[in-house]
Amino acid sequence: MDPLWYKDAVIYQAHVRSFFDSTGDGIGDFPGLTARLDYVQDLGITCLWLLPFFPSPLKDDGYDIADYLNVHASYGTLEQVKAFIRAAHDRQIRVLFELVVNHTSDQHPWFQRARHAPPGSLERAFYVWSDTDTRFPETRIIFSDTEESNWAWDPVAQQFYWHRFFSHQPDLNHDNPAVVDAVIEVMRFWLDLGVDGLRLDAVPYLCVRDGTSNENLPETHAVLKRMRRELDRTFSHRMLLAEANQRPADVRAYFGDGDECHMAFHFPLMPRMFMALRQEDRHAITEILNRTADIPDTCQWALFLRNHDELTLEMMTDDERDYMYRTYAADPQMRLNHGIRRRLAPLVDNNRREIELLNALLCSLPGTPIIYYGDEIGMGDNIYLGDRNGVRTPMQWSAGKNGGFSHAEPGELFAPVISDPVYGYHAINVEAQERSPLSLLHWTRRLIALRQRHKVFGRGSLELLYPSNRKVLAYLRRDADETVLIVANLSNSVQPAEIDLKGCAGLVPVEMHGRTRFPRIGSTPYVLTLGPYACYWFELLQGPADQVA
Ligand code: NOJ
Repeated sequence: MDPLWYKDAVIYQAHVRSFFDSTGDGIGDFPGLTARLDYVQDLGITCLWLLPFFPSPLKDDGYDIADYLNVHASYGTLEQVKAFIRAAHDRQIRVLFELVVNHTSDQHPWFQRARHAPPGSLERAFYVWSDTDTRFPETRIIFSDTEESNWAWDPVAQQFYWHRFFSHQPDLNHDNPAVVDAVIEVMRFWLDLGVDGLRLDAVPYLCVRDGTSNENLPETHAVLKRMRRELDRTFSHRMLLAEANQRPADVRAYFGDGDECHMAFHFPLMPRMFMALRQEDRHAITEILNRTADIPDTCQWALFLRNHDELTLEMMTDDERDYMYRTYAADPQMRLNHGIRRRLAPLVDNNRREIELLNALLCSLPGTPIIYYGDEIGMGDNIYLGDRNGVRTPMQWSAGKNGGFSHAEPGELFAPVISDPVYGYHAINVEAQERSPLSLLHWTRRLIALRQRHKVFGRGSLELLYPSNRKVLAYLRRDADETVLIVANLSNSVQPAEIDLKGCAGLVPVEMHGRTRFPRIGSTPYVLTLGPYACYWFELLQGPADQVA
């Protein structure tokens, strides 16, 4: 088994609650997810990432954990989780679970114990307490639509406790080694069950220090390095994925010298892909890629277009954020905190060409692509559901009752199925797209299959090219065996591209989907004509010696 498997992976992000309900209670569950693994496998997915499924009051959809070592009763039993892991592994699909390291639910026994324990005791020190709510004034508020302070008063403890997210999610005190020990025990529990990777939620905020923003502190990195050491001591072929929504240089730090996380989400890139598309100008993408430092050989970026959260604009300038709101979230109902709560298809007004272009970039830029469940069929969202629930609605399997998700009465479902005329389950569903060879589902499958035939996408270097037409984004991906040229038209009109490929003179571009040979590259700029939002992938091959340029 290759220890760097995550470099060649295609990850699918799913929510047990939303995927498939096997019991008819209106809530997705592990047996349901297991029953649908064939679908995931057919899509070409090699790693399945699940949102938190642990016992929880579900006030933050499970990111408020009340017991790390069990399963929420609505989703199944531990035995069923084990069966799911086995079934995924039987299909060569690895599994990635959540390790919510930064905070727990206020219902977690650690917090209940802490609030009753005397101040200064080890138990109390599992969380961060203060007699005032004025400490750490430099720290920003993340859930700005809900919270006014990062401190909340606990009447039992008679002190304030620190929380970076909702006030029902007290932050663990990672400056207390007993906390780190306890989290490592949780990590071991799941890794012992065969879990291949852990997504470390909200890692920048683990430790706190007066006079700082309390983000990305050296002490936090020291905690992560300790977790990595523990992992490496006992387990092999496992992976840690950092969720650090930070600026490029700060995200880079979560790889350490290859001794922290194996992967980290490329948060800075994601919104800029959407920005470049609307601006019909590659600059936002090339600029952020140029600002992305090299990472250690054993590390990998995790790339994504959409996920279960709002499309975050936190790390953009005010002007950039305004632009994104104006173009992608004209209706204030679409906005949440510092972001946009919409799915991929509605963001681009259901324009199939734009969906394909973004996915073609996702699958060809350096990193491992993550596809958010439902986006492979172009599911819509429901911006009226509150918080981020509108992008977590039931998977649309068919045009049948509840979109084929559940046999329950529609009112019993944990959330209504999307049912509007454009994105509703009558129009958008797996069954219909299976039958239609030109569907987005089939197209996505072909794209993934193509990517998976070429290791260069997961492993190769990146060289940005700068054709004079800025509506065109072009780059080379290269490893010892292959060179691939990607050329994308970010605009809605036909565009010419004159690309300087002198370094590849003599090679023959072969379009990778249709295997069509293009004219040999010479010493003059290579000329291509690109249809609206076209994205071409070419393998550059040594052509037969007699072929005319
Ligand atoms: C990041 C998760 O992606 C988000 O869904 C959650 O609300 C916060 N962390 C708090 O756990």
